[in-house]
Amino acid sequence: MIGGNSRRKADAMNPYGHFDDAAREYVINRPDTPLPWLNYLGQDDFFGLCTNTAGGYSFWKDAKLRRLTRYRYNNMPMDMGGRYLYVRHNGTVWNPGWKPMKAALDRYECRHGLGYTRITGAKDGIETEVLFFVPPGENVEIWKTTVRNTTGKPQRVSLFSFAEFCLFEALNDMNNYQRTYSIGEVEVEGSAIYHKTEYRERRDHYTLFACTRPVAGFDTSRDAFVGVHNGLHEPQAVLAGRVTNSRAFGWNPIGAHQVDLELAPGASETFSFLLAYVEQGEPKFDAPFVINKTKGRALLEKYRTAAAVDAAFADLGHLWKGLLGACQVTCPDANINRMANTWNQYQCMATFNLSRSASMFETGIGRGMGFRDSNQDILGFVHMIPERAKARILDLAATQLSDGTCFHQYQPLTKKGNAEIGGDFYDDHLWLILSTCAYIKESGDRSILDAPVGYADKPGSRDTLLHHLETSIAYTLSHRGPHGLPLIGHADWNDCLNLNCFSKEPNESFQCAGDVKGSKAESVMIAGLFLQASREMQQLYAWLGRKTEAAGMAGHYAEMLKVIETQAWDGAWYLRAFDAASKPVGSAKNTEGQIFIESQGWCVLGGAGRDNGRAAQALESVHKRLFTPDGIILQQPAYSEYHLELGEITSYPPGVKENAGIFCHNNAWIHLALCQLGQGDRALEYYLSICPSAKEEQIETYRCEPYVYAQMIAGRDAVCAGEAKNSWLTGTAAWTLVAVTQGILGVSADYDGLRIDPCISTKWPSFEVTRRFRGTEYHIVVRNPDGISRGVKQMTVNGKILAGNVVPLAKSGRVEVEVTLG
Ligand code: BGC
Ligand code: NOJ
Repeated sequence: MIGGNSRRKADAMNPYGHFDDAAREYVINRPDTPLPWLNYLGQDDFFGLCTNTAGGYSFWKDAKLRRLTRYRYNNMPMDMGGRYLYVRHNGTVWNPGWKPMKAALDRYECRHGLGYTRITGAKDGIETEVLFFVPPGENVEIWKTTVRNTTGKPQRVSLFSFAEFCLFEALNDMNNYQRTYSIGEVEVEGSAIYHKTEYRERRDHYTLFACTRPVAGFDTSRDAFVGVHNGLHEPQAVLAGRVTNSRAFGWNPIGAHQVDLELAPGASETFSFLLAYVEQGEPKFDAPFVINKTKGRALLEKYRTAAAVDAAFADLGHLWKGLLGACQVTCPDANINRMANTWNQYQCMATFNLSRSASMFETGIGRGMGFRDSNQDILGFVHMIPERAKARILDLAATQLSDGTCFHQYQPLTKKGNAEIGGDFYDDHLWLILSTCAYIKESGDRSILDAPVGYADKPGSRDTLLHHLETSIAYTLSHRGPHGLPLIGHADWNDCLNLNCFSKEPNESFQCAGDVKGSKAESVMIAGLFLQASREMQQLYAWLGRKTEAAGMAGHYAEMLKVIETQAWDGAWYLRAFDAASKPVGSAKNTEGQIFIESQGWCVLGGAGRDNGRAAQALESVHKRLFTPDGIILQQPAYSEYHLELGEITSYPPGVKENAGIFCHNNAWIHLALCQLGQGDRALEYYLSICPSAKEEQIETYRCEPYVYAQMIAGRDAVCAGEAKNSWLTGTAAWTLVAVTQGILGVSADYDGLRIDPCISTKWPSFEVTRRFRGTEYHIVVRNPDGISRGVKQMTVNGKILAGNVVPLAKSGRVEVEVTLG
């Protein structure tokens, strides 16, 4: 039996589940996972969060402005509310996904797959299987439901569906009850429940919740179905065995259906529930108060049959097969195969689509699309669908201001910068250069540079994307401090290193408070990032044949490099910053926070310390002072007191988040840096230290999903060392994919071909990568007869020896590449 309160001791490697690699699924066999384990439905505009107990919610494009179903964050239990089906059989009520009833099940299985989740529950001879997914390109979530009688006797079963509508604007829905309790409206037509709150005024869209099979009844009033004094674990109508055909009038509209089934021995019935978002357009009404349902009806008709639903699900499978086909790996490390081939790429789709907006840790209200976040997310996504990356780059650029700074976030629905958070994070603009160059290398499409994009503060302006990139470089060059290093603004990548904030006021945000005008605080990390960005610009100009500009960029690069080497070397590693009083941060001179990871990563990636041995020394310092078996700690020693001059970083307890937590995102920069220095064994060891699939053995400590990266793993200073948090929406996804595919396996898109420069474990005899690139499939076999890490000795392309390590562009078809290291 499954359920009950006692937590079984880990009696298997991971008692909660396992990877089914062939099916590309993660299979969960116990519903009481250490935390709710999440999956996402949808890949285009319609999205759903779906946990292993069917919890979560759905939205269209924007989790704040078009929330379709409700969710209560920080609830008890933690994950309550979602896509619930109640089975009523022989007087007992249970859910296939265990929650909310938590009745003990005879069998429970949740399979999280690519864009879908399949939950099966069985009890007393009745098995209910629900497959949740969003067909590609559609605004409908399908809950394909099969109820089976596995007994030898006829069985009568009633199945009840439940979805709670959100009144679209999620924040208002949560805090303006004096209005929202009086505006809820629905219409019912057969099994179709139309949620149409505010449709009469400024909306032309509705949410539709329907069943493809005739129903015995419905409810649309929450009070009628659940009961005013009841929770979802004791829904009044289900317990009574009969819905009431209630019509919501204000209060809280829901959708609930009752389906009565008579199942012969061994028989089953399959049908679907559909949850759709429909923009009806004109004419809005069929009659006064009666909405035009043409589009809604057409959608129901389209997915009425099981065959249509199955075909849509097959489309989803084809979509993912195609997407993942752009990069597939066979190497001696099972974790790399598992993550790089499936889960890491899959996570990159989620971060690309959702940035940091909606997860179990992000409410969909607080944050939209982050400027630096989305630019970095593109690095792990661009190989899958370059055209979508292009569109995103242009959207992002349009939120840059003409001085070079950027809105730190924008709302996906409106694409307008979020004025409350504002800008003045002086790293933001540089990431735009990285994403743009990655896009051009992947696609070969230089026309993006001429794309007209205005600046957010100059409505109607139509400068080009290239102009934005130049403005970005110019901004950093002209905003420097006493040491010649770039100013930091509110913060650089490390949102919590707030050197200009000086906050004594508990009601203000560390990210927004503090006057950065006239600031002196400088960031070594931005300086390192600038090296990378200016080198990218130099290479881009060189490729475009614009020699003068290329030389100009080379000059900026050299100048910044000199500043770093003369001002930012602490003796055994690179400093992190200079604070507002020009005192060093991340120096052996400090008592706490002596060494930080970010500046080691970016200075080395940018090319600092190459000729003078400092790069290797800095990475050795990282190894000695920051590396642990659970990953590289952000800085050490942890801050034990609040420092007014350092901000939020010192507000966290030692060992978590930016205060000496293992912030997985920046770990990948070190993986890449190690690869650039040829340290393949260490790169692999570090890669595995944060790899989620390698955490199954310690899952009771780790707690988060073992199939996607988490933003943070608690560092050794924390009481809960090794515990992961903030899974799914993190820049770790893109950067680890870049680190493993471009760093370790060494296959990266370049302007004129595929560059092959692996940095592997000396123990690897060989590996293979299949990479789809500009319409050609490159099958790359790398052999390592001498057991080294890095260095291409010979490369053949379709049997012909070629000088160098860049595979030239082919016209089409398949190209065989053989590489020998030595
Ligand atoms: C968190 C950071 C996050 C920032 C963004 C901070 O409180 O600690 O990790 O980047 O908020 O709003
Ligand atoms: C999470 C934020 O989304 C990202 O922008 C930031 O760089 C990291 N936290 C580090 O503070």
